[in-house]
Amino acid sequence: MSYLSPSPVDARPPAVHDFYGPIHKGLRFALCGLLTRLGAVDPADGPAVAAVLADLRLQLSISAEHLDHEDEEIHHVLEARAPGASRALAQDHAHHRASFVALRAAMAAVEATESRGPALHRLYLAFSRFVAEDLAHMAEEEEVTLPVMQALFTDEELLAIEGRIQAGIPPEALLTYARIMAPAAHPGERLAMLAGVREGMIREGAPPEAFAVLLAHGVRPVLADADWDALAAGLGVAA
Ligand SMILES: [Fe+2]
Repeated sequence: MSYLSPSPVDARPPAVHDFYGPIHKGLRFALCGLLTRLGAVDPADGPAVAAVLADLRLQLSISAEHLDHEDEEIHHVLEARAPGASRALAQDHAHHRASFVALRAAMAAVEATESRGPALHRLYLAFSRFVAEDLAHMAEEEEVTLPVMQALFTDEELLAIEGRIQAGIPPEALLTYARIMAPAAHPGERLAMLAGVREGMIREGAPPEAFAVLLAHGVRPVLADADWDALAAGLGVAA
């Protein structure tokens, strides 16, 4: 037998499921929006600054949770089939975690002073560096890591990885994820994503009103009227 003969594994067409796309679009939407708000908020307006900082704290906790999900559910299984393939990603994640500590310190510095302008500008610049690094990191995951995963795993396995990540999100956090993922997706992606969420809820025995609550509080408030109308029609729910 020739060593050049394709093995049955080689003959399998690559998987196509993309578990990075929807959540990464949501993270980009949230991070870029917060960066813009941090630059535009009036340093003299205490309540407005406090509101941006509260949203930034929430986003950093979501970003940290996202790194945990990838470490626990993606990097382990990738390492098992391709040793070394997740090393650079893990280094990026460690660097991101150090950035979270520095950003929390920069937020505390804003809160510790009455003349917030300089501290707010330092926070803005530090956050801009983090956003730049995270944007590059997520693109690397989608352009380099995803094709490797799709060659090594079947679509069923990739869907199972995604399912384990979603199952680990507490119900109360689902609204936060919906608020950044729904407006970041294009209409077709948004409909497919929410139809999938509804199927998952039904499968897991969630009460029927759970999906209605998710739509009313996590999706409707963050969509333009035309986008909401199209989504509601696609899902077959009242607009
Ligand atoms: Fe990552």
